[in-house]
Amino acid sequence: MVRHFLYISDFSATELLEILQLAGELKTKFRARDDHRPFAGRSLAMIFAKPSARTRVSFETGFNWMGGHALFLGPQDIGIGKREAIKDIARLFSRYNDLIMARLFDHAHILELAEHATIPVINGLTDYNHPCQIMADYFTIREHLPKREKPRVVYVGDGNNIVHSWLRLAIRLPLHFTCCCPQGYEPDAETVAAAREAGISTIEISHDPPAAVAGADVIYTDVWASMGQKEEAEARAKAFAPFQVNSGLMSATGCETLFMHCLPAERNREVTDAVMEADYSIVFDQAENRLHVQNGIMAWLVANGD
Ligand code: CP
Ligand code: NVA
Repeated sequence: MVRHFLYISDFSATELLEILQLAGELKTKFRARDDHRPFAGRSLAMIFAKPSARTRVSFETGFNWMGGHALFLGPQDIGIGKREAIKDIARLFSRYNDLIMARLFDHAHILELAEHATIPVINGLTDYNHPCQIMADYFTIREHLPKREKPRVVYVGDGNNIVHSWLRLAIRLPLHFTCCCPQGYEPDAETVAAAREAGISTIEISHDPPAAVAGADVIYTDVWASMGQKEEAEARAKAFAPFQVNSGLMSATGCETLFMHCLPAERNREVTDAVMEADYSIVFDQAENRLHVQNGIMAWLVANGD
């Protein structure tokens, strides 16, 4: 059976650690620009219904470096689910290509794509989750804090797709994860319950930023209005104002704390310019690691396929 990369929690802890190990090996090779072409003669179809900088460039660069050919299909190209049925695109690309990476609005659409594809489908973000991002983020935390067995990650902001992937990682790998958000902007309750029930991690929901960040190894944030919600941006800006990550909040941890953001950042909205530029900000390490971790995911899926 073909393995897709739709949710982090679809993989066992052992498999996730294998992917991260592979990512580390590929990072060393990529940085040396070694000749490494396991995907020679293969192709990756990249379907984007939403904008992207990191996801597009990191997948395309990574796949090309590994000897393959990546095809970019932007929002105007396919009209997936509108001009053409999702299940037809799944079967068509399964005949042309070796892998599909898709960034879609509706999470049900990526599930439908995977259901009908006979090649691996990788989730490059939906309204529900963003698994490649959080795999890269976890890899980055392990690089910076290799001795922390249960890193304390405090996410301050909207309980969105990023948070759902953190919660799904927490189902498999130990974390102390807090989502600190305004009332009414909590993550999906079933996902929170699943992360708690797994018993691997400690999960907290808070509405009090200075209290939530105490002892944090990492403070993480994301935009207050995600793609598809930009018309809500002004209303959200009011609700989220006390949740801005600024130098005051960073020092409220009472310890050394790293700052992370999946990017793109709206500077001086969810995070100040000073925090983005501080020595403790590792946003570009995490962005770089998207490339290496996705290479690990693609290599693992191909090696573990039929
Ligand atoms: N973090 C992330 O996925 O960035 P893009 O939206 O630019 O791909
Ligand atoms: N929550 C953001 C993440 C962007 C990488 C969004 O969905 O727009």
